[in-house]
Amino acid sequence: MKGLILSGGKGTRLRPITYTSAKQLVPVANKPVLFRVIEAIRDAGISDIGIVIGDTGDEIRAAVGNGRRWDVRITYIPQDEPRGLAHAVKISQAFLGDDRFVMFLGDNCIQGGISSLIQQFGHSDYNAQIVLKQVADPRSFGVAELDDDGRIERLVEKPREPRSDLALVGIYMFDHHIFEAVNNIQPSLRGELEITDAIQWLVAAKYRVFPYIHDGWWIDTGKKDDMLEANRLILEELTPLVQGYVDRDSQLIGKVIVEPGAEIINSTIRGPAIIGEKTRILNAYVGPFTSIYHDCHIEDSEIEHSIVLEYSSIRGLPGRLEDSLVGRNVEIGRSPLKPKAYRLLLGDNSTVGVL
Ligand code: DAU
Repeated sequence: MKGLILSGGKGTRLRPITYTSAKQLVPVANKPVLFRVIEAIRDAGISDIGIVIGDTGDEIRAAVGNGRRWDVRITYIPQDEPRGLAHAVKISQAFLGDDRFVMFLGDNCIQGGISSLIQQFGHSDYNAQIVLKQVADPRSFGVAELDDDGRIERLVEKPREPRSDLALVGIYMFDHHIFEAVNNIQPSLRGELEITDAIQWLVAAKYRVFPYIHDGWWIDTGKKDDMLEANRLILEELTPLVQGYVDRDSQLIGKVIVEPGAEIINSTIRGPAIIGEKTRILNAYVGPFTSIYHDCHIEDSEIEHSIVLEYSSIRGLPGRLEDSLVGRNVEIGRSPLKPKAYRLLLGDNSTVGVL
């Protein structure tokens, strides 16, 4: 089997971070979501992986390289515009050939990996298998309706009035018949070739399409709160490990990871939390569900339930920072000049909450 990861697209919901960078490279528990996807596919025994890339392709190539780091072979498949998930399959035909394959959206995180579903599909005569998950509000996903025998009856992309609570998780398994489907569908109202419509086409053409109901957690990390939730869930599963320096005046409570070269001085870290390589925490409090990436500086401040990306600094905050996603090279600190005022330099679509 082969793997196909979709890492094109625009990432409008994570702006301003995705103005400058690929949403699939935003780290969750200090590891980019895309790296987690590559590892899940590798751990399921697949070593030939194609990655569909768009505007942020150069950044993805630079971060992932040829895949040797994971013992896999990566082939990049450029997509000129985000014309839809089914379009991404279409342009990948030369790479996929007649092989069965798993397609994994590069911004999805799933608990427990995909080995068991790859095994089930690999040993079956199914033409396609889709992963479903019961969710409270399925309106922002593809939605599946099953018949009384548990077979797929109908699939609808982001319905306003969903007729079931089963969302399509961003993991799909196909054989070569999917190319027939993607060549026979028309763009949707949002102008994309929808994979949901392609699978519906397979169902209508009486191909063998089966569901796999996932019962662990699953997060589509497209928005800030979803990133924070994925961060929380992954941090809870990590094993504590201290490889950096922690001075005698500091306290690590619960599950805490301190990466090599990090320094914790006169501070309290209450886990689950992770402090990245070469990051310095000084006279500070880092609370549960926080990931501070590499080369950051947190001083005389408190932060909790947040993600901070590389090379950022937070100094002298009078109140606790919570529920926040802080981008790269960001500086948050007290305003040094009089008169007393907030002084901001924010990118488009930024959000700031003041006390
Ligand atoms: O996350 C699960 C959902 O993913 C499913 O429930 C939906 O049925 C499916 O359509 C998809 O919906 P989204 O609106 O969340 O898809 P998004 O546009 O965020 O794209 C998903 C990934 O695929 C993302 O990593 C970007 C990449 N992509 C997207 C498009 C439209 C491409 O590589 N090429 C594309 O043309």
